[in-house]
Amino acid sequence: MNKGIQKIFSQIPDKYEIVNHILTFGLDIYWRKKSAKLASKEGSLLLDVCTGTGEMALNLVRKGKRVVALDFCFPMLEMARRKDSKINFIIGDAGRLPFHDETFDVITISFATRNINLNRENLLNCFREFRRVLKREGKFFNLETTQPFGRLWRWIFHFYVKVFVKKIGSLISGSEPAYNYLSYTIPRFYDSEELKSILYQSGFSNVSYKRFFPFIVALHIAEK
Ligand SMILES: C[S@@+](CC[C@H](N)C(=O)[O-])C[C@H]1O[C@@H](n2cnc3c(N)ncnc32)[C@H](O)[C@@H]1O
Repeated sequence: MNKGIQKIFSQIPDKYEIVNHILTFGLDIYWRKKSAKLASKEGSLLLDVCTGTGEMALNLVRKGKRVVALDFCFPMLEMARRKDSKINFIIGDAGRLPFHDETFDVITISFATRNINLNRENLLNCFREFRRVLKREGKFFNLETTQPFGRLWRWIFHFYVKVFVKKIGSLISGSEPAYNYLSYTIPRFYDSEELKSILYQSGFSNVSYKRFFPFIVALHIAEK
């Protein structure tokens, strides 16, 4: 468990969503909705890991699914808990899930894979852990920022992240470390093809991905 990351998220729960909406011009709502629509086509018992303030879990429960939502940051989970009583919220570490093998039909994660990716080995172990608690033929949906294809678009995106995300995020949330961290991790995260190969390496099969407009986020879908 990474105490530094836990501390960063403890400082921003009340401003977390509004900052996201401002920095993405509201697109984060559309990206989660689209992902939840695809994820909810599968099975009935779903786990949303690193749920934060529970936005993805909420989208899934609105589709009539049974949802368990896990996070290691109590203040973020408290915000989520106030929104819905049907979701089963659990405090825990994504790297050591407190569930039996083959429990869930689907696992979702949104905008948190970067946080557990302290190194490639760590990420591989986490993906293996997700795979362990998925039922046979269960599916994993990973929504995360990615690297734009074209060099110019990539440069513009990284410039926006370095300058605006850092400044606006820190200003509105009142937490400089959180948005320094965000602007540090986004340009350094894997591109869609690399993440696909890490998912294969961790044991998943039939890995595919979709990039959502404006092609700075990708939803990877992987099968157990
Ligand atoms: C950027 S937020 C994403 C929240 C939410 N999924 C969303 O779409 O907005 C990252 C969340 O992941 C959680 N997190 C990071 N590493 C974790 C870990 N190893 N185990 C459990 N939660 C973790 C943080 O506490 C935080 O709430």
